[in-house]
Amino acid sequence: MTFPELRMRRLRRTPRIRNLIRETVLSPKDLIYPMFIKGEINNPEPIPAMPGQFRLPLNEVVKEAKKLTSLGIPGLILFGIPVAKDETGSSAYDKEGVVQQAVRAIKEQLENELLVMTDVCLCQYTSHGHCGVVKRDEILNDRTLQILKRVAVSHAEAGAEVVAPSGMIDGQVQAIREALDGAGFTNVAIMAYSAKHASHFYGPFREAVHSAPSFGHRRGYQMDYANPDEALREVELDIKEGADMVMVKPALAYLDLVYRVKTKYRLPTAAYSVSGEYSMIKAAAEKGWMDEKAIVLEVLTAIKRAGADMILTYFAREVARWLMEDE
Ligand code: PBG
Repeated sequence: MTFPELRMRRLRRTPRIRNLIRETVLSPKDLIYPMFIKGEINNPEPIPAMPGQFRLPLNEVVKEAKKLTSLGIPGLILFGIPVAKDETGSSAYDKEGVVQQAVRAIKEQLENELLVMTDVCLCQYTSHGHCGVVKRDEILNDRTLQILKRVAVSHAEAGAEVVAPSGMIDGQVQAIREALDGAGFTNVAIMAYSAKHASHFYGPFREAVHSAPSFGHRRGYQMDYANPDEALREVELDIKEGADMVMVKPALAYLDLVYRVKTKYRLPTAAYSVSGEYSMIKAAAEKGWMDEKAIVLEVLTAIKRAGADMILTYFAREVARWLMEDE
């Protein structure tokens, strides 16, 4: 059957029928909110390049976490901005570090209401801003693994249920799995930033957490965005090393990879809609050039349509509110 018997517009005529046949439905349950926590401050600090986002003091963390649960958002991922940085990023595994304290506070107050994930990387904690230990401008892979193990275990000890290694250090998933299991944390899951690209979309984040490298760039460990086959290989290796969930990052300009990873491996797949994706929309909306709500819902639905099971996004709270209003 074809035109004139077949008319596709029959199913587009009313909101009711359009909703009925909608194939991809975005829900607050798909979203994970990235939260920045900073030591030694008492009031939230606005992040200029990310309007609406803040560096939070420890005393605000529980309040903000409770807001997420009331919005139906299932989880958050914590990023720490430590008081002290050094060559090897040792404050990343301090029991009294910002992330460790924040995880404990949230778990004490919210127990099982909110899934607590932590970013496991060194760049916020090293004086040079790289994601690993540096010797003569070289990132030392295997030495970095020893530190990442300690970081992951310290997050698990604090109560994190998911750790998310984001440094693109070879062998990091395997090293962390072994360390967690060795310390008795067999139930702590790993969400691997498997296909994390050296992206210019991270600019606002680096301002937010003060993690821009002081020399060079991250192309010696993060992936070249021109290499989709290599991205699949990274994902496959992380699965072999024991990743429970894998991630593609950034999201919007990488939907082909989200689709291919989900289709090929059928594993829980996350997409990280990163700071630059957030800031671009915010800037255009502030100028009155685009409708923020409409654009955000379209973009996040597209990320889900491509195959993402979960989306890390700074828009999580607004989206949850918008979806509730529209019900
Ligand atoms: C740290 C890390 C980065 C992001 C998450 N974890 C940035 C980087 O590699 O510089 C980016 C998040 C964002 O841009 O929203 N390894």
